[in-house]
Amino acid sequence: MTAANQETILELRDVKKYFPIRSGFFQRKVGDVKAVDGVSFSLKKGETLGIVGESGCGKSTAGRTMIRLYKPTEGQIFFKGQDISNLSEENLRKNVRKNIQMVFQDPFASLNPRKTLRSIIKEPFNTHHMYTMRERNEKVEELLARVGLHPSFASRYPHEFSGGQRQRIGIARALTLNPELIIADEPVSALDVSIQAQVINLMEELQEEFNLTYLFISHDLSVVRHISDRVGVMYLGKMMELTDKHELYDNPLHPYTQALLSSVPVTRKKDLSNANASS
Ligand SMILES: Nc1ncnc2c1ncn2[C@@H]1O[C@H](COP(=O)(O)OP(=O)(O)O)[C@@H](O)[C@H]1O
Ligand SMILES: [Mg+2]
Repeated sequence: MTAANQETILELRDVKKYFPIRSGFFQRKVGDVKAVDGVSFSLKKGETLGIVGESGCGKSTAGRTMIRLYKPTEGQIFFKGQDISNLSEENLRKNVRKNIQMVFQDPFASLNPRKTLRSIIKEPFNTHHMYTMRERNEKVEELLARVGLHPSFASRYPHEFSGGQRQRIGIARALTLNPELIIADEPVSALDVSIQAQVINLMEELQEEFNLTYLFISHDLSVVRHISDRVGVMYLGKMMELTDKHELYDNPLHPYTQALLSSVPVTRKKDLSNANASS
């Protein structure tokens, strides 16, 4: 999708997130882990920005900071033009959180095992006092159908489903409040390659249908390549390179990007291009 003329939905200006390192009997602060160390970019409505980098480079921390699950140590975060870097928890809940949702790597860990899909998916409606009981149940069935699950599954529990199905449930849950921006943190990393392609295709269809903006985090370049319009490469808390994906893969500027590209195992490249070709 071309997002060139669209409004900017998210902008980061030199965002840093440090975690204190403490040591000794008095737990004195002896230094910082610079998990995110000066990241700037902007994201247009309808766009998919991929963020890649090896484990520990700060991708998840960046994702959590930009939606204010963490407070940035420094820098500014704008959501639809509003500076949210210092908003109070209450303000965030009222004005921002509904509009930004997260999808996680391990949907099972984020789905309450004692609740049926119905109560998991409609929970945000309760929190925000939206719709009548009956409307809520209808919405749940619509959402299940929309992510490729049978509406009758609403009365089942998370453990009854496969990894790919659970990720579909996680996605349905993220869509409940009709958000504009979705931060997906390694959403397919725990899935088999064939299932990865299905979930990515679903995410692409949903993006089209609901005009979603995605920030798609993965340690796997071949996964990010398929879904992204632009790709940012992170290394030690910094964004080393951020460009159009064709540019990045055909002509990587930064030596670290080159190293990352050349370390994608050949079989994986083949697997994924086959999966994509047949989708
Ligand atoms: N809550 C935390 N407290 C202290 N250090 C953290 C915390 N979360 C992440 N880190 C550290 O920040 C760095 C970046 O971690 P993370 O954002 O999880 O990377 P990635 O998602 O790219 O694997 C790592 O060194 C990690 O150990
Ligand atoms: Mg991570």
